Formats: sequence, C-alpha cells, structure tokens
Amino acid sequence: MMPAFDFASPTRNATLPPRSSERFAHAHPLPESGEPVVTHDGRVLLMRPIEPRDVAALRRCFKRLPAEDIRRRFMHSLSELPEPMAQRLCRIDPATEAAYVLIDDRVMPAELRGVGRIFIDEATDSAEFSVLVERDWTRQGLGAALMQRLVASCRERGLAELWGYVLVENRPMLRLCSDLGFTTRMVPDEPGVAQITLRL
Ligand SMILES: CC(C)(COP(=O)(O)OP(=O)(O)OC[C@H]1O[C@@H](n2cnc3c(N)ncnc32)[C@H](O)[C@@H]1OP(=O)(O)O)[C@@H](O)C(=O)NCCC(=O)NCCS
Repeated sequence: MMPAFDFASPTRNATLPPRSSERFAHAHPLPESGEPVVTHDGRVLLMRPIEPRDVAALRRCFKRLPAEDIRRRFMHSLSELPEPMAQRLCRIDPATEAAYVLIDDRVMPAELRGVGRIFIDEATDSAEFSVLVERDWTRQGLGAALMQRLVASCRERGLAELWGYVLVENRPMLRLCSDLGFTTRMVPDEPGVAQITLRL
C-alpha cells in the first residue's frame, strides 16, 4: 500500500521530488584554487573556474569528442574548435558568465575532462547553461557535479532560474536533468529541441 502523504516532511513523500533548495542544499562557494572531485570509480579531478591558460587543453578536449557529443553540446556540427572561439570560451566576462572545468593533472600536459558554463541574462533573472563531459569519463557523476556547481553559482548570484536547450534524442542529458529536478518542455518552433528549466 502507498504510504500516506507526510505533510510535515515533503521530502519523505515518494510522489514529490525534493525542492531544489533542498536538493542542492550542500552547495557552497567554490574556492578560486578549485576543489577535488572524485569519480564513482575513485579517480580524482580538480574542479576550478576556467582560465585563459586553458585554451590549448580545451582545444585538445574538443578533438577527442565524438561528432555526436559536439552536436549535442553546440546544437550543430563543428569539425574543430577555432582558436578565437576557444580564446573566447576561456576568457569569460564574470559579470555575465561563469564556467568551470574538470582538470586531470595525472597526465602531462594536464587534460580537461569536462566543462560547465552559464550565460546570465539579468533582464530575465535567469541563466542558460551548457555542459560537457568527455566520453571516457561519463557515468562517473561528473555531469551531475558540474550541474550542481552551476546551480550553486546561480544561487550565489540570486538568480531565479537555470535553463538550457537539449536535443530530445539526448537521453543521457534529459535523464541527468530529470534526476536533478529540472522540468522539460518542447520548444514550439524548434522540432527535436526541448527546453529544460530549474526554478531556483
Ligand atoms: C550528458 C552528459 C553531460 C552526462 O555526463 P555524465 O558525466 O555521464 O553524467 P553523470 O555521470 O553525472 O550521470 C548522472 C545521471 O545522468 C543519467 N545518465 C548519464 N548518462 C546516461 C546514459 N548514457 N544513459 C542513461 N542515463 C544517463 C543517469 O541517470 C546518471 O545517473 P547514474 O549513472 O547514477 O545512473 C555527457 O554525456 C555529455 O557531455 N554529453 C555530450 C554533451 C551534451 O549532451 N551536453 C548536454 C547539452 S548542453
């Protein structure tokens, strides 16, 4: 039999996901120097804000990506990440952007295994996100760790909403976002594209 709805403790009710403020309650500001992130299988990466010196690592990371992942992240095909675009992605405007990288410094040179980014729109009090984890490093909790960092960053800025466009074929991302409490709706004029949103 289904347990009775527990009004005193909504998080105990299996029918309702926890509020996002509870789901991300452990989030805290990220130190400038970054902090370690441990994968499910025990590998350690450093999560820190992106820096201008990351251009070469970002371009190498892009080269390792399958075409499908590039399309899912950028919503179109791109055979390489041009230097000016990489420069732009690594040199952010802190007033309107935040971006975090996952650095693997067990290899030389250190490699970038994931990136999460938000673009802030003050007019709508919201931020658009994008996230990417290198294929060999997926299913290790890194996508969720990056998304949680982006949520924390939005909260630190007092934003009301975090949202992003996701291709409907992109089951991994839709699943990840639904696990994190985002809601999904189809974009009316863009067949095959969903908008996913988290109220903060
Ligand atoms: C989508 C993406 C970010 C997921 O990253 P990830 O590091 O694998 O995510 P996590 O390991 O944190 O997975 C968290 C949850 O998401 C879901 N998920 C992730 N990959 C999945 C897959 N291939 N199939 C089904 N569910 C999946 C699962 O629920 C998973 O939890 P579990 O492993 O405990 O079952 C990564 O696959 C990626 O970079 N894809 C290409 C770029 C992209 O699609 N970006 C999103 C658009 S901006």
